[in-house]
Amino acid sequence: MTRKIIIDTDPGQDDAVAILLALASPEEVDVLGITAVAGNVPLELTAKNVRIVCELAGKRDVKVFAGCDRPLGRDLVTAEYIHGKTGLDGPVLPDPTMTLQDGHAVDFIIETLRTEPEGSVTLCPLGPLTNIATAFQKAPDIMPRVAEIVLMGGAYFEVGNVTPAAEFNIYVDPEAAEIVFKSGAPITVMPLDVTHKALTTRARIEAFRDLDTDVGRAVAEWTDFFERFDMEKYGSEGGPLHDPCVIAYLIKPTLFSGRHVNVEIETASELTRGMTVADWWGVTDRPKNAMFMGDVDADGFFDLLTGRLARL
Ligand code: RIB
Ligand code: CA
Repeated sequence: MTRKIIIDTDPGQDDAVAILLALASPEEVDVLGITAVAGNVPLELTAKNVRIVCELAGKRDVKVFAGCDRPLGRDLVTAEYIHGKTGLDGPVLPDPTMTLQDGHAVDFIIETLRTEPEGSVTLCPLGPLTNIATAFQKAPDIMPRVAEIVLMGGAYFEVGNVTPAAEFNIYVDPEAAEIVFKSGAPITVMPLDVTHKALTTRARIEAFRDLDTDVGRAVAEWTDFFERFDMEKYGSEGGPLHDPCVIAYLIKPTLFSGRHVNVEIETASELTRGMTVADWWGVTDRPKNAMFMGDVDADGFFDLLTGRLARL
């Protein structure tokens, strides 16, 4: 069954690989549009990077929109120290020639959810949740129309990557995350607990390079660049390929396992700002609002990813 999706993203090398995986999988996902948000790098760059990736995939007809350039109520925090100045450091790729769609990403999200049949559109946020939350605030009527929100963000047993308590996407805009997690829409979360098990080992990166295509080479060079920071930080055998977990879940959900729990977002404390407080052991009577993933078949994930990238 093909799902209609909107990818909301802040490329970012891992976002780029997620977008390529989606564009290579038309049997499972119909990408209605891609909305850029400020996150890893400022909006002007994320909106440019989405188009670079679409052109690399040979998919110039994808509708790309620019969205919010800062969080709902906080200064923007970016991550050039991980993704480089461009947000897509690694390979040298040509500037895009495809243009942005007119109109704001938030209005595209609202319009699409209002015109597509109720329960037929899945939202796939891969960055801070500012665009999604803004759409929900501006048009609350769309919240019950969302089929599912499958997002990369948060952490529980794996703790934070930008502070001791918080994962980057949630940390950047905790107020937006609170709106999304309280929206009542079905939510599936790919937290660091699972993405830190999807590591780009040397063999896996060479498998990308061995595709011997522009896409394979770009993905190998992105993951080479992206992984160095995490390997130093975690002493791991590779870097976590966070965002493609969202798209892989749409294609092959059995790769993942987790638990349906209550998740609430810390917005008051500076110490734990952006923490995803998951009631993993059911010690409260708070409503279970999220499927919080904790495990992935990493070999199966990379086999799927590499096989699909070979199609582009
Ligand atoms: O914490 C990892 C997340 O933050 C990923 O989505 C990465 O692209 C950055 O946005
Ligand atoms: Ca991202």
